[in-house]
Amino acid sequence: WGENMSSDEEVAAASRPYFIGKKENIIQARRVLKSVGGRDVLVMYHQGDFYAIDARCYHSGGPLQEGDIEDFDGRPCIVCPWHKYKITLDEGEGLYQAVDPSVKPLKPTWCSKGIKQRIHTVTESNGDVFLTLNNSAGAIDSDYYQTEKYRDTILKE
Ligand code: FES
Repeated sequence: WGENMSSDEEVAAASRPYFIGKKENIIQARRVLKSVGGRDVLVMYHQGDFYAIDARCYHSGGPLQEGDIEDFDGRPCIVCPWHKYKITLDEGEGLYQAVDPSVKPLKPTWCSKGIKQRIHTVTESNGDVFLTLNNSAGAIDSDYYQTEKYRDTILKE
């Protein structure tokens, strides 16, 4: 954030759409890592849809751009390469498997830890792709890894 900006200006700057690239190029690349408005965001193309998510995992700051995308419980998730946490692409929920010991035979079911990773909005216009940051005020776990300390040491673009 600019030091001299009023908080109204900061909100306006953060909520504008940022040009990410040509649609055809992003589809071809499948993943694009961008620094926008003071955040490092991973934009992905997966099975016909665009997604944007904070680039570093909410658990310990793992590089999600290197994670695989797989479906769990019928939902596309990015799997963090560091400790295999699963994060839904559409909501940023942390998913885990749990077993109810009172139900036999024991069968693991998928559960949600709630929204852990900040998700952003991707829009298209005339073949261009734009990102609008999600400025919702409540803290989300992945915000921690968007501070200067982590942005300086981890992102190598
Ligand atoms: Fe992502 Fe641990 S840092 S699972």
